[in-house]
Amino acid sequence: MTSASKSLAATPPMGWNSWNQFGWNVNEAVVRETADAMISSGLKDCGYEYVVIDDCWSKKDGRDSNGYLVPDPDKFPNGIKALADYVHNLGLKIGIYSDAADLTCGSYPGSYGFEEQDAQMWASWGIDFLKYDYCNAPEDQASAIERYSRMGEALRKTGREFLFSLCEWGGRSPHLWGREVGGHMWRVSGDVFDSWVNIWVADHTYYGIGIDVSLDLAAELAEYGGPGGWNDLDMLIVGLKGKGLVSGGGLSFVEYQTHMSMWCMACSPLMIGCDVRAMEKETAALLMNPEVLAVNQDALGEPVRRVKQMDRCEIWKKPLADSSVAVALVNRGASGSDVTVKASDIGLLDAPKLVRNLWAQEDIADFKVELTRRVQPHETLLLKVDKH
Ligand code: GLA
Repeated sequence: MTSASKSLAATPPMGWNSWNQFGWNVNEAVVRETADAMISSGLKDCGYEYVVIDDCWSKKDGRDSNGYLVPDPDKFPNGIKALADYVHNLGLKIGIYSDAADLTCGSYPGSYGFEEQDAQMWASWGIDFLKYDYCNAPEDQASAIERYSRMGEALRKTGREFLFSLCEWGGRSPHLWGREVGGHMWRVSGDVFDSWVNIWVADHTYYGIGIDVSLDLAAELAEYGGPGGWNDLDMLIVGLKGKGLVSGGGLSFVEYQTHMSMWCMACSPLMIGCDVRAMEKETAALLMNPEVLAVNQDALGEPVRRVKQMDRCEIWKKPLADSSVAVALVNRGASGSDVTVKASDIGLLDAPKLVRNLWAQEDIADFKVELTRRVQPHETLLLKVDKH
């Protein structure tokens, strides 16, 4: 077994992934233009670094006669190596996808039995990140550990630094063994859809996870994430607005803001899922608020804790490196509510404290014992409380 290298994923990985918006239509032009847009929009300057090609990049009908995966020549006419060079020249990193079985989720060739050959090939292309899925693989935990270890070891043997992203959807408790197999992040759920509540997908074949439900998973598993290995709440749905592959009708602005706030509080990787070549102003504001991102990227990597549940309103807190505390007041209910946070709820003394609204980037109050704020349905107030 391998262990994750320390400097890699010291804070939650940030980037973009092709799946949510483009699905099987990912191609070279999309990836190049996305990389360009990450520079021109300012996303790179905010810390978004990885450009990840998800499923459906290789030829679907199988490997070549030497057992190599072949990039689909219609989608990637110049191959992946040229694309990797292009992305690297922009100062970004590139990721790819495979699966721990014969076939991926989209029924493209997987890597089981070819781990070393594939890892060596990706290393020769200059790949920096592997998302490794688990469709068509055995259900049990021991098999998952074995299959992820094989790939973790194969990546390590290449001598190239790979960020290893495990995607078995949480069913086999990857938070308990993800680090040991060389993983830097592990999904904790099935696919998150562009929906507030869970929805049935593809003729009731499986559940698409809604943002509301993800919050409970984030609370439950928080303590297992930290520098080098993170709970992955799944790619962001910010900006999809009902488009793309994981459409669940879309969220309201306030709901997208809750999603982003809580992914940041929970130290989830932030992998953008929308088309960043055509970002609306509102989407850019949600993805690029430096004070909100700083909560996610805080050097301590301390787990978030849900400290209070009052009917459908909740208070969450996360200690930050500068000894302030990030606090989220979340209203998961259907009507507006006054939420009171007490100094004792967030582990602070009854002394004056300065409260900053991170989305608005403004100081809003000085409080000693408690603070009350109106929180609208599905809204989150994201605060930073500084001890004076
Ligand atoms: C699974 C994963 C998704 C995506 C698709 C690709 O459903 O959970 O994130 O990678 O496969 O087919």
